[in-house]
Amino acid sequence: MKAMIQTRYGGPERVSLADRPRPAVGPRDVLVAVQASPVTAGDRRLSTGDYPCITWLPGRIATGLTGPRAPVSGTVFAGTVVEVGPAVRRFVPGDAVFGQVMSGAHAELLCVPEDGAVARAPAGWEPHEAAALPYGAGTAHHFLSGVGGLAAGERVLVIGAAGGVGLYAVQLAASLGAEVTALARPADHASLRGLGAHRTLEPRDGAWREERARYDLVFDPVGALDGGPWRRLLAPQGRYLSLILSMRLLLAMALGRILPGPRAHTGVALASAERLDALRALAEAGAVRPVIDRVFPIDAAAEAHRHVATGQGRGTVMLQVGAPSRLRAAG
Ligand SMILES: NC(=O)c1ccc[n+]([C@@H]2O[C@H](COP(=O)([O-])OP(=O)(O)OC[C@H]3O[C@@H](n4cnc5c(N)ncnc54)[C@H](OP(=O)(O)O)[C@@H]3O)[C@@H](O)[C@H]2O)c1
Repeated sequence: MKAMIQTRYGGPERVSLADRPRPAVGPRDVLVAVQASPVTAGDRRLSTGDYPCITWLPGRIATGLTGPRAPVSGTVFAGTVVEVGPAVRRFVPGDAVFGQVMSGAHAELLCVPEDGAVARAPAGWEPHEAAALPYGAGTAHHFLSGVGGLAAGERVLVIGAAGGVGLYAVQLAASLGAEVTALARPADHASLRGLGAHRTLEPRDGAWREERARYDLVFDPVGALDGGPWRRLLAPQGRYLSLILSMRLLLAMALGRILPGPRAHTGVALASAERLDALRALAEAGAVRPVIDRVFPIDAAAEAHRHVATGQGRGTVMLQVGAPSRLRAAG
């Protein structure tokens, strides 16, 4: 089977197409013919081995010291079940599924355990659309609904709102009934309003940083405010959610345990079948929709990595792995 592989950490030039053996299917495994798999900012981090702050060493120990231990890249997939092990009960060949893995999704075939992060895809959604959800929407769901406990009527600021996670955080926060302020370049403001943002701000206009107790929750995928300005933006019971671990954030989290006022949180959004089920329900209810930036054929995965590395994309960058889909890039 065709797969994208990488054996040393580094830039997009390290990614190449290779022939790999068909995965062996165990008794409780599901073999998926992958049709779509995104290249995300998270994949770029795995590809460079550039883990932030004190996560560098544990990250390298977990994924490989000088290069990815699991050579086939790709952490999110959508496709069709083509074979199941004899003990599998949840899936049958022909099921349309989507899910998340630690590696291996940038390949024509992917073997996942039945009890892993794999679930039925949203009904009526194309593979490219379903594959756009687990990374951005799954991360936003973990942090906003789970860690942050965002409730209807609360005021939320989404930083990096036009990014791979932010675009879905805006949609999920709006669907939860929150009042959403999106921080992004002016060129993205109209589309962010279309996704549910009530208010849009421009990062280069520093006035927004001076607002006092304006929000109940600040969602910061890039750690832009981890130096402390989040405190004054938040109401006393407010929550600051950063996806990027830093020493300053660790200190703020420790102090938050003993001092009154808003609290800081971070963590890792681990995938699960329960979260995928929640995303499917949101998708089928129309509460979240895919935002696709560009679709690349799997042979052009290095180019897709280069495009993601520029940071210029708006939405999910997708690899078309198997059969062509009707969907093409939105913009
Ligand atoms: N902890 C977890 O579980 C978890 C899960 C998923 C992702 N992540 C991490 O989250 C980070 C973001 O992922 P992503 O997919 O959203 O990345 P992305 O697609 O590159 O988007 C980042 C967005 O943030 C904006 N931005 C960057 N620096 C900024 C700043 N200083 N002030 C305001 N806006 C800024 C960018 O805007 P411009 O393009 O206009 O600069 C861009 O729209 C990555 O580092 C990823 O590894 C963590």
